[in-house]
Amino acid sequence: MTLLAAATAVRLNAYVPYSRFKVGAAIRATSGAVHVGCNVENVAYPEGTCAEAGAIAAMVAAGDSRIAEICVIADSPEPVPCCGGCRQKIAEFADPSVLVTLWTTDGKSRTITVADLLPGVFTAAHMDRT
Ligand code: THU
Repeated sequence: MTLLAAATAVRLNAYVPYSRFKVGAAIRATSGAVHVGCNVENVAYPEGTCAEAGAIAAMVAAGDSRIAEICVIADSPEPVPCCGGCRQKIAEFADPSVLVTLWTTDGKSRTITVADLLPGVFTAAHMDRT
């Protein structure tokens, strides 16, 4: 199954009673395994958990820790850019050259690198004094 097919399928499971905006994400880990996530909202925090964060959590829970490729899909006029929090989460588990492809459900896509997704990223190296 392609990453796009996996993200498209999991998007249908999104729990979005507040936004009504379903998002699906699929990660190919460096192991080759595919991990998926959809957005899950709740009444106290209606923005809930993003699809990308869900896919990262599934990847870590499955024992993988590096992203080789990621794909996100939503029913929007233009490919939806990941939110700020998800950019930092993706950068935690992906090299700067990793490709992120953002899709609309009608087939429009935009591919960018993790470096372009989060320029000037804060990393653990910024805490080194030696
Ligand atoms: N959302 C995602 O899951 N990923 C994105 O990249 C953008 C936004 C979700 C969060 C919330 O459930 C809904 O979309 C509206 O913000």
